[in-house]
Amino acid sequence: MVKVYFFVISLFLLVLVKPNEAYSVVAFGARGDGRTDSTQAFQKAWAWACGSVKRVILDVPSGRFVVRPMSFNGPCRNHVTLRMRGTIIGPSDYRVLARSNVWLMFYNIYGLTINGGTIDAGGHSFWSCRKHNGYCYNGAQSISFVSCGGIVVRGLKSINSQKSHMSIKNCNNMAISYLTLRAPSGSPNTDGMNIQNSNRISVYNSVIKTGDDCIAIGPGTKNMVVNKIACGPGHGISIGSMGNSLHEDGVQNIVVSNVVFYKTTFGVRIKSWARPSNGFVRNVIFRNIIMENVYYPILIDQMYCPNNQCPRQNSGVKINNVSYINIKGTSLRKEAIQFTCSPTNPCKGIKLQDIRLTFGSKPAVSTCSYARGITQGKVSPRSCF
Ligand SMILES: *[C@@H]1O[C@H](CO)[C@@H](O)[C@H](O)[C@H]1NC(C)=O
Repeated sequence: MVKVYFFVISLFLLVLVKPNEAYSVVAFGARGDGRTDSTQAFQKAWAWACGSVKRVILDVPSGRFVVRPMSFNGPCRNHVTLRMRGTIIGPSDYRVLARSNVWLMFYNIYGLTINGGTIDAGGHSFWSCRKHNGYCYNGAQSISFVSCGGIVVRGLKSINSQKSHMSIKNCNNMAISYLTLRAPSGSPNTDGMNIQNSNRISVYNSVIKTGDDCIAIGPGTKNMVVNKIACGPGHGISIGSMGNSLHEDGVQNIVVSNVVFYKTTFGVRIKSWARPSNGFVRNVIFRNIIMENVYYPILIDQMYCPNNQCPRQNSGVKINNVSYINIKGTSLRKEAIQFTCSPTNPCKGIKLQDIRLTFGSKPAVSTCSYARGITQGKVSPRSCF
């Protein structure tokens, strides 16, 4: 009698607290053999996962799955977890990805966890086409989140993207951690992450080695935290480019801390076009940063204007309340600190605190134009305010 009771109760519990349902993409026809096109299977699997009333887990088991550019569209009916052990690769003909702007698009999704996995765009043929000035199509970003919220990305790895590894646009509340982004130092425009028009994004415990910016924080980004990052090779962490258009949203409340820059072109940089704009950058903290042989460790550049597209114009972007705290290491240029601000909109409220940067083993210098600020603690090179 007791046994029967126990059985009934267990059965009841099993139904009640049943773990999330998990299905593998393989059940939908995907094959991780490195050859079979699994795009349709992934589409079907996503349609099932996203349409499920219950929370579900979609598994990508170990193996190499060929997937063409596709979109994981929401809204979904419940939270979806994408649990990846395997690798997603692009088709062998690089043009299939290059013809699309995005390879793996996550669109309009509120409530998603991506756990683990590798995505390998195999960008070499695309880069070499570009190097030889061929007609190579646009090139694809590897993974893109557009219009989203409540997203957790943990332990994802992206290698050899054609263009940027990851882009985020119009998203709120995203936590990204244990990310690895990797492409060779010479690979063109392979940004690590691009963020735009997004609120409350955090990126931490991640390693980014790539050919362009490790992280680029663009217009309309606010309340962003970047913590514990190894960056390099690459072009460093930048806010900008700002002021590309006349009307644009500003960047505010950004904290970048505990970063090591290793042989990067730039360290922490704010950059804006030298032309009119109502944009701004304010309330930014760069803290606890180590520079190892960085060309431009600390830079504000409001004279950005490739191909002379802004003759005799000044940046309208207002830069205010930017702190640099506890930044140590070596510069590969004598000018370890450079603030080149806009003559019509000088930088205000810049703070340098506990800085020790040298030019190799020699003393470095700082240069300012149109920059106003204060120093605290020991600041070397001496500030130019
Ligand atoms: C400057 O920015 C910091 C960091 O966001 C913020 O805590 C502080 O209140 C700001 N100061 C002013 C005067 O706005």
